[in-house]
Amino acid sequence: MNVNDLKHAGLKKWVEEAVALMTPDSVEVCDGSQAEYDRMIQSTIDAKLAIPLNSSIRPGCVLFRSDPSDVARVENRTYIASEKEEDAGPTNNWIDPAQLKKTMKELYSGCMKGRTMYVIPFSMGPVGSDIAKIGIEITDSAYVVANMHIMTRVGSKVLDVLGTNGEFVPCYHSVGKPLAAGESDNGVWPCAPIEHKYISHFPETREIWSYGSGYGGNALLGKKCLALRIATVLARDEGWLAEHMLILKITNPEGESRYVTGAFPSACGKTNLAMLIPTVPGWKVETVGDDIAWMKFGKDGRLYAINPEAGFFGVAPGTSMESNPNAMHTIEKNTIFTNVALTEDKDIWWEGIGYDAPGKLIDWNGNEWVQDKGNKEQKPAAHPNARFTGPAKQCPCVAKEWEDPAGVPISAFLFGGRRPKTIPLVNEAKSWIHGVFMGSIVGSEVTAAALDVKAGTIRRDPFAMLPFCGYHMGDYFQHWINIGNKSTEDKLPKIFFVNWFRKTAEGKWLWPGYGENSRVLAWIFNRCAGKVGANETAIGFMPKPEDITRPESVSEDDMKELLTVDTEGWKAEIADIRANHYPKFGDKLPKELFAELDAIEKRLNA
Ligand code: GTP
Ligand code: SPV
Ligand code: MN
Repeated sequence: MNVNDLKHAGLKKWVEEAVALMTPDSVEVCDGSQAEYDRMIQSTIDAKLAIPLNSSIRPGCVLFRSDPSDVARVENRTYIASEKEEDAGPTNNWIDPAQLKKTMKELYSGCMKGRTMYVIPFSMGPVGSDIAKIGIEITDSAYVVANMHIMTRVGSKVLDVLGTNGEFVPCYHSVGKPLAAGESDNGVWPCAPIEHKYISHFPETREIWSYGSGYGGNALLGKKCLALRIATVLARDEGWLAEHMLILKITNPEGESRYVTGAFPSACGKTNLAMLIPTVPGWKVETVGDDIAWMKFGKDGRLYAINPEAGFFGVAPGTSMESNPNAMHTIEKNTIFTNVALTEDKDIWWEGIGYDAPGKLIDWNGNEWVQDKGNKEQKPAAHPNARFTGPAKQCPCVAKEWEDPAGVPISAFLFGGRRPKTIPLVNEAKSWIHGVFMGSIVGSEVTAAALDVKAGTIRRDPFAMLPFCGYHMGDYFQHWINIGNKSTEDKLPKIFFVNWFRKTAEGKWLWPGYGENSRVLAWIFNRCAGKVGANETAIGFMPKPEDITRPESVSEDDMKELLTVDTEGWKAEIADIRANHYPKFGDKLPKELFAELDAIEKRLNA
């Protein structure tokens, strides 16, 4: 389809302006068909950017290797360009929108020379659903088109819903690497140098402008840019929630089901929790979503969640038949792999896949790599943020209601992060506001999911939304309080804090995690169902020892450590929040949260 066939005058004009600015050699409006997907993949194979994998082992799969400067989100190059700096708040980078647009227009000028401009109509959420939002991404990357096909709903059906005057979020994307006449990428992942990368959001005009990166959340603009940064602004204005949360369905041995969402920072276990296979007999977990939840109130006063995405852009390292068989089955076919290692059989391999590297590999940099288990210094064969892009419908445990436009009613919210100390395995908030407090203080060891933050250190990541909130984080806390005021405690989800990442003094996991997390989920389910009691502690409700079963691999002493309040650790935590975390938000920090801080401190000192 070409631009002249577009029936939406505003869309047509916007595309024409982009064409005049970016001067591509040709323009294609994406129809979302399988033939189009195949053509995109073939064009990347022809440009030597993609390597087809062995079709008898991994049919319909390809491997990409990105540039070493383009392996993850770039938080330092991500901007919330609101009219006023104050509205972006202390946790976002800000540039005046007019100035930023001027800078970026210079970069965009002629940026698609030698390339095709693809116009991708996409829907976040089932096409035509009331909750869904339409975006149009303009991009010069066939890799992005193919990934968007998997991660969102793309094509003519979206244009049909848009009609002649529907609303859409306009999204510009360019890899920032024009080609000379007759030039091809010829095996070199196209992107711009780091100082030219911009991942920009204009919250008032609801626009997204991305330049210079072809990777993940920087380039697949439906995901973090639209479904979180822009959507948080829409959600604030319209009274709903756009969150960095997995959505799971859990069913007990009696056949009763509940739905739970969970916010954990990037690479802290959402995909794994969403697909877990319970070790507790008789329980079942199914997946509704693994990264983003949009939640609105139903007429009954409960919050209903949809997954706006259609696929999983999951962390590859650590994914194995033991840790997450459902993910491994999802990615058996029709999957795009990025920055994993390649075997001699043309299959994939990564650290933590569950078996030794079979022979000589090609690592994510394109170099030969032979596993040397004796060498602790050996660089990994797969990048730590290597990812798979797989269709949700291929997931063996996807819930039948995963595409229900009405969403699923949520019984519990989980918050958590990688906390080697202090934070217990699970505790439950005493009230909505206590739960909002818990969300606001989430902290985690930094992972490889962002390029420019130092991995291994602990940072506060409120609601796991630090890099994803499109406005002032203090106002976002207030928005959560306001949401609580729209319903009653009996209808609102109960809020829990969990931590799968406690370590021993020797640095070993205290808790086995993965499928064993079902023991905690079962307790949470039973709390929501009113079937189990709890001990009241200074930090909230905690399981009675007899109510949470102990994995074989965990000693009684370790279990006790996981489930007792570390009073001294919590006092230090509270002091840190008071001195270093809350002051960042100035006047915008809701006073109710300070009151919670005071109350917990008082209880700890009692
Ligand atoms: P994003 O896609 O970046 O938002 O990440 P995510 O939150 O979905 O994280 P994911 O489930 O992909 O897990 C990231 C890493 O944490 C992987 O290497 C997992 O193997 C590891 N992991 C997940 N769950 C657990 C757990 O319960 N215990 C331990 N020790 N590791 C886990
Ligand atoms: C994350 O970093 O939280 C991700 C990966 O889910 S990305 O899409 O790159 O943001
Ligand atoms: Mn994520």
